[in-house]
Amino acid sequence: MPIRRISSKWAKTEALLASTELRGLVPDTRPFEPDTVRDMLDEYGMIYVKPVNGTFGNGVIRLAKTIGSDDGYTLQAGEKQISFPSFDDMYDALLKLKRPRPYLSQQGIELLKQDGRRFDFRVMVQVSPTGQWETTGIIGRLAHPRKIVTNYHAGGTPLPMETLMKAHLEKAGRTSRGYRLELSRLGVDVASVLGKRFPGLKEIGIDVAVDTELKPWILEVNTLPDPYIFLRLPDRSVYRRIRKYATAYGRFRRGTRASANFRRRRAGKR
Ligand SMILES: Nc1ncnc2c1ncn2[C@@H]1O[C@H](COP(=O)(O)OP(=O)(O)O)[C@@H](O)[C@H]1O
Ligand SMILES: [Mg+2]
Repeated sequence: MPIRRISSKWAKTEALLASTELRGLVPDTRPFEPDTVRDMLDEYGMIYVKPVNGTFGNGVIRLAKTIGSDDGYTLQAGEKQISFPSFDDMYDALLKLKRPRPYLSQQGIELLKQDGRRFDFRVMVQVSPTGQWETTGIIGRLAHPRKIVTNYHAGGTPLPMETLMKAHLEKAGRTSRGYRLELSRLGVDVASVLGKRFPGLKEIGIDVAVDTELKPWILEVNTLPDPYIFLRLPDRSVYRRIRKYATAYGRFRRGTRASANFRRRRAGKR
């Protein structure tokens, strides 16, 4: 069976929402419609609007109700943040900005910050050579200082989980090891649920937001996760295992362009 890819964020989110164990870790997510945007802003104060079939943080928009005011709104896309006096003004601007394709609205999670920059995590989960789901890598992504997305392709900086979480975990009296275990288990749970819904799935990369209570939230699941980001970890064994597992299920083949790219990047050219 070929390696399975699912591009629709909606299809993957629905599968997670159908799981009683995972439902509570998925931010409220609904198809994009005017009423939904208004209702969700009233309910959550901040939401993300994103293309159903997007990648690399492209087209992602953050909407917020201005704190301390009844009807002020802000919209941010890329590095530009704009304020509006009313919902209707903001919504007009949103319709002009948004591409004419399906979008979804999602409850916004206030990401933890370091030096004013937001960060979240990528959790890589793969089928091991013995056929079990296993979390093979966890890496933090620190957003560009003026951006609302942490994606590497949008100027995010990959960093070890411990570097970003150390102070937050210490304050909460928790250990890095314990938190790593929690994220690893979450990864395996998500993969098991999606693997049942989409047979043929071999690898996933979960975007996990951590809120100020240190609760992990599943922002999205990628079925074509970038393995190369893990080359940025000082611990080289993480990438070696990711590559080993991927080779076993056929993502890399000897002598193919993918593996040549891999060798080049590993040599530090990218
Ligand atoms: N609901 C949300 N709350 C907070 N941040 C979000 C939310 N949704 C997305 N983001 C931020 O935007 C980034 C890109 O969104 P994502 O859903 O992963 O789309 P893409 O497929 O483009 O990567 C996330 O990694 C995260 O930093
Ligand atoms: Mg993403």
